[in-house]
Amino acid sequence: MNPFKFGTIVEDEFFTDRVNELEQIKQMLDSENHLVLISPRRFGKSSLVAKALQQIGRPSITIDFMKVLNVEDLAAQVLRQVFRLHKFEKVKHFMKHFRVVPTLSYNPMTDGMDVSFVPSVGKSSAMLEDSLELLEKVSSAENRLIVVFDEFQEVNSIDKTLAKQLRAIMQRQKGLNYIFMGRQESMMEEIFEKKKSPFFHFGERMNLKKIPYDDFYNYIESRLPKMPASQKAAITEEILKFTDVHPYYTQQLAAAVYNAIVYSKITENVVAYAIKRQVEEHSLDYERLWANMNRTDRKVMLLLANKKNPITDRSVPTSTSFSSIKRLLKQGYVIKTVGYELEDPFFGEWILGN
Ligand SMILES: Nc1ncnc2c1ncn2[C@@H]1O[C@H](COP(=O)(O)OP(=O)(O)OP(=O)(O)O)[C@@H](O)[C@H]1O
Ligand SMILES: [Mg+2]
Repeated sequence: MNPFKFGTIVEDEFFTDRVNELEQIKQMLDSENHLVLISPRRFGKSSLVAKALQQIGRPSITIDFMKVLNVEDLAAQVLRQVFRLHKFEKVKHFMKHFRVVPTLSYNPMTDGMDVSFVPSVGKSSAMLEDSLELLEKVSSAENRLIVVFDEFQEVNSIDKTLAKQLRAIMQRQKGLNYIFMGRQESMMEEIFEKKKSPFFHFGERMNLKKIPYDDFYNYIESRLPKMPASQKAAITEEILKFTDVHPYYTQQLAAAVYNAIVYSKITENVVAYAIKRQVEEHSLDYERLWANMNRTDRKVMLLLANKKNPITDRSVPTSTSFSSIKRLLKQGYVIKTVGYELEDPFFGEWILGN
């Protein structure tokens, strides 16, 4: 089996490092505080939180805000998660006062409860309030519930008043920890750092960085197929140089390199071979993305692909390149770590090749 994994939450032997972050999260959840976890896409937020929850062993529910349609749906999803933790019989007395009665049905296929609210005008905030208050009721002092809101940057696009509604309910709650995860620093900052935002300084902020080089190095090297040590070292270095230690793309490229060695029997320039294959595989997507970018954005992308700094480069006026970067950051094609860089190194390779 390929010893590298990407695209989903990684756990057990696929999970590396994050020792300090895990410790910090555990400490934080041992208090009454809430956590705000921010990083660019695919840095490992979901994996980190899943690992922390597993180690802590307290009950938790997770809501993915990308999959929330509207306020009623959020209320229903919260209830659905509660019924995953508790038998309906144990919870139903808490629901007597619900202002809108949810439709519940037992689903024998999943052995779980299907829950929905029939939309009714002007009642959605009551649905949300009743559902979230149920969380507090099912949480116990010795086993406090942890509530994870993933992809929380979506909150304002679900409903303009949702953040305000949530905050009004949540600030009264005790005995729960909330974890907010999100990408796009700028959006998460709008939510948690702007004085006027309902969630201003609501939780302790943690910016997740890439995985440290040495740690990722050992992770890759120890999993490559049998070959001379010097060759392993060279391959590992080449992988990390290309991906710049990005968690997701590193695992993706390492997996491709592994396949090239084991299945395609490539013996020379295997990293270059794997990169080429990956770029080819995604070239249609890249073409489409490129076609939809304006000229300035393309210029900035090209500079970044060449590892140049578009802000200081003279070929584009600073104000123009700045607004372009802002746009590209928002769309997720560019990320900011120590400096600006392309989110996807394979896209960069495609740009250079075309
Ligand atoms: N601790 C880790 N050890 C090894 N690989 C990791 C680790 N964390 C993340 N990765 C790699 O990055 C990929 C993305 O991780 P994950 O889905 O947890 O990130 P995310 O920040 O939640 O992404 P998104 O922004 O898309 O929700 C994983 O599939 C895995 O390949
Ligand atoms: Mg995630």
